[in-house]
Amino acid sequence: MSILFEAAKIKNLTMRNRFVRSATYDGMSDLSGQVTESQLKLISDLAEGGVGLIISGIMYVHPSGQISSFMNSIAEDKLVQGLRKLTAKAHEHGAKMAAQIYHGGREARFVKTRKQLPVAPSVIADDPHYRGSYREITEEEIGEILDAFGQAARRAREAGFDAVQVHGAHGYLFSQFLSPFTNQRTDRWGGILSNRLRLHRETYRKIRNAVGEDYPVLIKLGVEDGFAGGLTLAEGTQACRLLAETGYDAIEVSSGVRGEKYEGTEYKTKINKPSREGYFRLPAREIKKNAKVPVIAVGGLKTIDMMEDMIRNREADFIALCRPLITEPGLIRKWEQDPKKIPRCVHCNQCLEELHHGFPLHCVTFRGKRL
Ligand SMILES: Cc1cc2nc3c(=O)[nH]c(=O)nc-3n(C[C@H](O)[C@H](O)[C@H](O)COP(=O)(O)O)c2cc1C
Repeated sequence: MSILFEAAKIKNLTMRNRFVRSATYDGMSDLSGQVTESQLKLISDLAEGGVGLIISGIMYVHPSGQISSFMNSIAEDKLVQGLRKLTAKAHEHGAKMAAQIYHGGREARFVKTRKQLPVAPSVIADDPHYRGSYREITEEEIGEILDAFGQAARRAREAGFDAVQVHGAHGYLFSQFLSPFTNQRTDRWGGILSNRLRLHRETYRKIRNAVGEDYPVLIKLGVEDGFAGGLTLAEGTQACRLLAETGYDAIEVSSGVRGEKYEGTEYKTKINKPSREGYFRLPAREIKKNAKVPVIAVGGLKTIDMMEDMIRNREADFIALCRPLITEPGLIRKWEQDPKKIPRCVHCNQCLEELHHGFPLHCVTFRGKRL
């Protein structure tokens, strides 16, 4: 049997294989952030389809972090009941499930509908990478957000999630703090790396206090920005080492503040030759080599041979997929039967474009086709 299909552990959480559904926003919650029937079906299909660990889509922990109308919230106790149904679907079919807990920082555009401005570590004048309006976050607001992450993690545990994953990538609040480009603060939250990483480490402590010692706390980290002058891989690697020392139980390796669309982002396109596959393989390998923590690799992974090599060569411990599982939620079972199978997904990002236009998640290219 392929090493990919062997059971594996993060802390004391055992997964039936090494396949992770990377967090995927689905635009399917109701307007109050509650779980819907479509989401139960989606999670059920993925779990039945063989995924080992399903990471939810982004869930905001505090209203100031909300980016869109149809995203799940984990900011209030009343949401726990609905979330419990979601984790039950995963468990019913043998999968484990983690909640991705999130704050959008300056990208939390939805807060403008409440006549407020999104917050960020610093306001960057004439930023070629981001054009929205936002304001600098205060020390007091940082404290409130830290508390909100602790409370959200407690709710996740109560709702039956097997782990939480802090969203520390893709240009959102944690990326904005870590990047020397977007964080130009001169107080204890800015400047040297340990200051820019303070939010990540204090968040861990809040979460740990709320969920106890035995619960897996993961982070998805943007280990380099998508443009020159942003966070470098050398600093991103050092950041992972510090986060492992802090206590995070696994790190999913992705990119940070976005550069040019789509090449400078986490969802690159044109994965049409082997050299384009696994586009964060090198950073994952760097982190695996330098930090004592399980590594989840993600980004353009599509062939079993490459994924197996990565696990066998100790470049990563887990393999995460997003877009291929939008097209084929049953892909992992299909691979189990036929490891040579090529995923149908062509990484065209039309799923993403449709989400941005307010449609729920679906594969545009293969819509309506039997796969
Ligand atoms: C439609 C869509 C929604 C996504 N939503 C999230 C999300 O909620 N949280 C997150 O960390 N990443 C999100 N991502 C990024 C993916 O998790 C993943 O890191 C990226 O797509 C690369 O993996 P892939 O090549 O297997 O798609 C999303 C990507 C897509 C295409």
